[in-house]
Amino acid sequence: MYQSKKVIMVAALFTVWSQFSFAEDTTINRLLASQCAQCHGTYGMAVGEMDGLNDESYKDLVEDLNDMRGEDSLENIMDHQAMGYTQEQIERIARFYDSLKVTDLQESEDEEEQEEDK
Ligand code: HEC
Repeated sequence: MYQSKKVIMVAALFTVWSQFSFAEDTTINRLLASQCAQCHGTYGMAVGEMDGLNDESYKDLVEDLNDMRGEDSLENIMDHQAMGYTQEQIERIARFYDSLKVTDLQESEDEEEQEEDK
């Protein structure tokens, strides 16, 4: 009896602890988001015609991905991509792209290039 109570206590403590620590682990967010890099570029910096993700806000990404996930018929690539994630994973991916400040960096690089062209 005592033994099983102890097991439950440890299990409960572990659950509380793990939720707390995972919530703060941004490497998980980055790992989940790395799947998107195949098509949308590293850190969401797309090459060519593809839409980039580095300038997406948390709110827009969560909305977009949930819309895609909720489609009645899966018509394009993104509907299938979005289907593969849970709500929590979508939020983590959105937090990752929202946290990137590479848009500013990209803009300043463009400005530098323009300077050099003069
Ligand atoms: C296999 C390639 C591929 C992968 C992987 C992929 N996407 Fe896409 N994504 C596309 C294509 C192609 C489009 C253009 C619209 C369409 O056909 O659905 C797109 C469009 C989007 C759009 C709309 C862009 C806009 O500005 O309207 C968002 C947001 C998006 N993707 C987010 C993601 C996220 C987040 C992931 C990772 C979970 C991801 N994509 C993974 C191919 C991909």
